[in-house]
Amino acid sequence: MWCPGLVEGSLHSPLAVPSSLERLLPMAQLRFGLVGAGGNQVGSARGLSHARHLATLDAGQIVAVCDRVAEAAEQAAGRLGAVAYTDYDRFLRHGLDVVILATPDVLHAQQAVEALQRGIAVLSEVPAATTVEDGRRLAQAVHRSGGFYMLLENYGYRDEIELIRRLVQAGKLGDVYFGEGEYLHDCRGLNRFPDGSLTWRGQYFSGYVYIWHSLRPLLYILDDRTTRVTAMMTMQPGRLEADIRIPDNVVSLFQTAGGRLLKIRVDIVSPRPHLMDYYALQGTKGSFEGSRGFGDPPRIWLEELEPADRPGRSGPSVSWRRLADFEEEYIPDRVAAREVAKRTGHGGSDYWTLKAFVEAYRAGNPSPVDVFRALDCSLPGPLVLESARRGGAPVEIPDPRTFI
Ligand SMILES: NC(=O)c1ccc[n+]([C@@H]2O[C@H](COP(=O)([O-])OP(=O)(O)OC[C@H]3O[C@@H](n4cnc5c(N)ncnc54)[C@H](O)[C@@H]3O)[C@@H](O)[C@H]2O)c1
Repeated sequence: MWCPGLVEGSLHSPLAVPSSLERLLPMAQLRFGLVGAGGNQVGSARGLSHARHLATLDAGQIVAVCDRVAEAAEQAAGRLGAVAYTDYDRFLRHGLDVVILATPDVLHAQQAVEALQRGIAVLSEVPAATTVEDGRRLAQAVHRSGGFYMLLENYGYRDEIELIRRLVQAGKLGDVYFGEGEYLHDCRGLNRFPDGSLTWRGQYFSGYVYIWHSLRPLLYILDDRTTRVTAMMTMQPGRLEADIRIPDNVVSLFQTAGGRLLKIRVDIVSPRPHLMDYYALQGTKGSFEGSRGFGDPPRIWLEELEPADRPGRSGPSVSWRRLADFEEEYIPDRVAAREVAKRTGHGGSDYWTLKAFVEAYRAGNPSPVDVFRALDCSLPGPLVLESARRGGAPVEIPDPRTFI
């Protein structure tokens, strides 16, 4: 619905796909459009965080904001000096180079497809799609349009993940054959509006498992993708709230194309302190365990650092090293920019996510988290739940590269 009370911007028609020459324009000239303003006091207003982080990068201007709630669109647009829309199609005709999707999860794929069809680059919040069919349509739209698509999965941009990836690439852990992740985030407060009605999280989180923040970092470190999952869950409707059918706890075991095993636990309803970024790896020559909170440091054990005269290397002689000890050597770029990055959210990973976009787009390079990688971590969301609902039956995970 177009709301006539809102100001309509100049109606450029950016129907052509931006050429690589246009992509080389100074970033200050980039026109961003933001969909999903938040501000409902229950959600996290992720769109506005992106607006703040963009300002840190001096990467362009948000010139238009779209939200189905007129008040939310107007408030955000007023704050950002942008034009407010409630109608997505009109918003896309504002004259945009890049659209940032920060709407409820189930809308991302379709909104991305529509933006790509208009030649607008897409930065999508997680997940890329919540069904395999939506994922297929999205991959085909990216392919047909030749447009730029990036998933803003930010946990893969954490310093710790970049450091471990570089250590793995340097062969320090040997052949890595096991990975682990946990996303334990008490989101109960995000499920319901003050009037008692369900938010989009309360409604949709019963249809897929919020697995991307655990899966993508592991797949990024290992340059791998999952092929099969078996999952089990505890689900006691009514234990927390009678009308919310979100599993209490889901544990998934994935096989990967690279012959690895990944174990991931997701729990977004249990009362407990958050632990959203736990990861671990085991390789033939080393082992990594992330922090479990409460002052526990991320640590690494490397066979090459153990004295050679200790056969078996077990018992009290075995010594972990603090992962942080390797930062200066392996991620000096991250260390140098830490103060700037920390001003953004999620331990600085929000900064590195948008910076990766800016650098790739400016250089005319491929997307750092392209549609295939985006779907590699998104498609398992509904498939994990399918396996768990079938009592742990193995479910094949399609390779999105076969969708086009
Ligand atoms: N990567 C991260 O760390 C991270 C953190 C928080 C949220 N997120 C993601 O960001 C997205 C937004 O989450 P949030 O917490 O900001 O939600 P939110 O509820 O605060 O905001 C969503 C906004 O979208 C609007 N909206 C709903 N339907 C719309 C439509 N059809 N057209 C336009 N606007 C519409 C709502 O009115 C609301 O203002 C979700 O996909 C979530 O998974 C990611």
